[in-house]
Amino acid sequence: MMKNIFITGATGFLGGELLVDLSKRSEVGKIYCLVRSGSKEKAIQRLKKVFDFHGDVFDPNRIIPIQGDLAQDDLTEDLCENTTLSDVNYIVHSAANTSFSPIYDKMVEEINIHGLQKILKWSQTLKELETFVYVGTATICGKQARDRTITESESPNLEAEHLVKYTYTKMQGEIEIANHLPADKILIVRPSIILGDSRPWVPRSYVIMWTLATVNFLRLVPGNGNSLLDMVPVDYVSDAITKLIFAKNRKHQVYHISAGEKAATTSVAICNTIEKAFPELPKFNFVGHEMLRDMKMWARKRLSADSKLNDYPEYLDYWNSIMEDTSELRILMGGLDPYIEFMELGQVFDNTRLLEENIGVVQSKPAHEYIKTSVHLLKDIDIFEAALEP
Ligand SMILES: NC(=O)c1ccc[n+]([C@@H]2O[C@H](COP(=O)([O-])OP(=O)(O)OC[C@H]3O[C@@H](n4cnc5c(N)ncnc54)[C@H](OP(=O)(O)O)[C@@H]3O)[C@@H](O)[C@H]2O)c1
Repeated sequence: MMKNIFITGATGFLGGELLVDLSKRSEVGKIYCLVRSGSKEKAIQRLKKVFDFHGDVFDPNRIIPIQGDLAQDDLTEDLCENTTLSDVNYIVHSAANTSFSPIYDKMVEEINIHGLQKILKWSQTLKELETFVYVGTATICGKQARDRTITESESPNLEAEHLVKYTYTKMQGEIEIANHLPADKILIVRPSIILGDSRPWVPRSYVIMWTLATVNFLRLVPGNGNSLLDMVPVDYVSDAITKLIFAKNRKHQVYHISAGEKAATTSVAICNTIEKAFPELPKFNFVGHEMLRDMKMWARKRLSADSKLNDYPEYLDYWNSIMEDTSELRILMGGLDPYIEFMELGQVFDNTRLLEENIGVVQSKPAHEYIKTSVHLLKDIDIFEAALEP
């Protein structure tokens, strides 16, 4: 029997990859996609664009847009009234507001918790529903878990302290699912940090690559570059999730999709790869996170004479030479700040469950290796535009 899927977030970084991967599976019939759009035609165009991105075939008979917004009050009712959706077997909930900026906290909560509740309420009415796949995030473990390997069973933990509202809402999401559906219908996949694409082409999104482009621009980095970082490419994450969805007799309900201890990397290792691609730029230098404040002061032309930042005159001269106005540095630092906090946590996410599932998912490569094929793209990223849209 063919399985019909309802997916949210299919126009996004990971969701787009998932949509294309799922469409290639022989077990899959129709894929309904919740899309924000003013008209059905525009929704079709947005989905077609996802397939066109890497030259995949878009079949409008199988890929069906469902106009809707997780912020919509009557979303549950709309979905319930849509009788064409009664044959849905799998729901893949990938949509989220992934902003780290506190100015979006309310919206992040609205979309990631209340939006999810609306999908869950509708899912309870589906007679053919087999599995609700929730794309969570491994970083829900919170900031107390530092410099060690973290297992799936440690979360959700209500005591966890969150660096940003986003990870809190993703944790609450897991709790919501358990409150709405029986355990045998739940599959939770928790990617670590998704960076780029391991294939030699343009990734679907520059989200985390933006931070690398910014660091490449600055070269003097306010953070500890030796903390371990768990990063995986989007194609690896999508492939692993797709295989887990169709795995017979899955052993667990929750899986990290991560690099794990074998392929964790560091900012220093990543910067070594970047340095080889841009040898003409100053060498990378990692200084303490506390220097970020001084960098902001320098940008405001208020750096005190006794600041340690004055020990790096070659970088200050370099910044003066590449920026029209030093206030540009403040914009970059504002965007970079929360990422640096995550970078310094030293969290590695155990991937034993995924690798032992025997579904053809092997250990991923470390980020400093797989980014070699796309590192030249860093120069194409508009770092100021991205910094203003956190
Ligand atoms: N990227 C990472 O490093 C990472 C790591 C771990 C987990 N994750 C998880 O992976 C999932 C996908 O993340 P991503 O990086 O692919 O994010 P993304 O590129 O920002 O995509 C987000 C998707 O959600 C949709 N969406 C946002 N608000 C919506 C709303 N109000 N109604 C309907 N759809 C809405 C967006 O639609 P529009 O196109 O209309 O905006 C887009 O399709 C998320 O659940 C995230 O928590 C991501």
